[in-house]
Amino acid sequence: MLVNTRNMLRKAKEEGYAVPQFNINNLEWTKYILEVCEECKSPLILGVSEGAVKYMGGYKTVYSVVIGVMSDLNITIPVALHLDHGKSIDYCKKAIENGFTSVMIDSSSYPLDENIRITKDVVAYAHSKGVTVEAEVGHIGGIEDDINGDNVYAKVGDCIKLVTETGVDSLAPAVGSVHGLYEGEAKIDLERIRLISEAVKIPLVLHGGTGIPDQTIIDCIQVGISKINVNTELQVAWAKEIRLFLNNNQSVYDPRKIIGSGSDAIKKVVRDKIILFKSHNKA
Ligand code: 13P
Repeated sequence: MLVNTRNMLRKAKEEGYAVPQFNINNLEWTKYILEVCEECKSPLILGVSEGAVKYMGGYKTVYSVVIGVMSDLNITIPVALHLDHGKSIDYCKKAIENGFTSVMIDSSSYPLDENIRITKDVVAYAHSKGVTVEAEVGHIGGIEDDINGDNVYAKVGDCIKLVTETGVDSLAPAVGSVHGLYEGEAKIDLERIRLISEAVKIPLVLHGGTGIPDQTIIDCIQVGISKINVNTELQVAWAKEIRLFLNNNQSVYDPRKIIGSGSDAIKKVVRDKIILFKSHNKA
């Protein structure tokens, strides 16, 4: 059964680890990710971007695929189906109406007061349906935004204001990570994460989990991150294997063999992240 993120993030925050959000693009990824998380007994947030929703056919299809695979594979771990970077109240509502158990409302491109107004509306609707909400403060874009200076670090005061006024369940503050592949080193502001975490008390989310050194990930969890999003790293690992397979097997045309040749690569990333996101407990 799908659940919202409340209990899984609360537990992660209390016990000092991070729940992974892995983004899905199709049936196969959904299956591989669920299999590994079940094997590792790890809670899981399946992230679906608006682009991925469109690609897969729509919210109903995404929901049906996830529910179907979970049922057929007898999945017992807590799984949340989460809209990643919902850009409007309407998109969030549609996701919720179609069975998503968690949504991110990303109105971070608006001034703070407007961000708060939109987030508040989504929280009111989502909570009435038992769905949890993640919001963004500052602006987390891609490497292009970083180069152009469009990524804006979250201010502690803005985070307090948004969390207090909206009652949002988790917060993704911009702390230096970007989506996609980094050029050079990720410059994560750990002190900012610590200050925000102490001030807002709710679970914090790190976007752009790809390409951040393991030790920095561990440090981020230590100072208050309870959920980490990973997307690009799965794509890169999968694409590399598919390319290799096709180059080495010119006469193969069976889609199950072609797509399936990337399964071990995805599974390895998922397994490694689950271990990493819990690893600081062992120190
Ligand atoms: P990456 O693609 O950099 O892993 O980021 C994923 C993400 O933050 C999704 O919201």
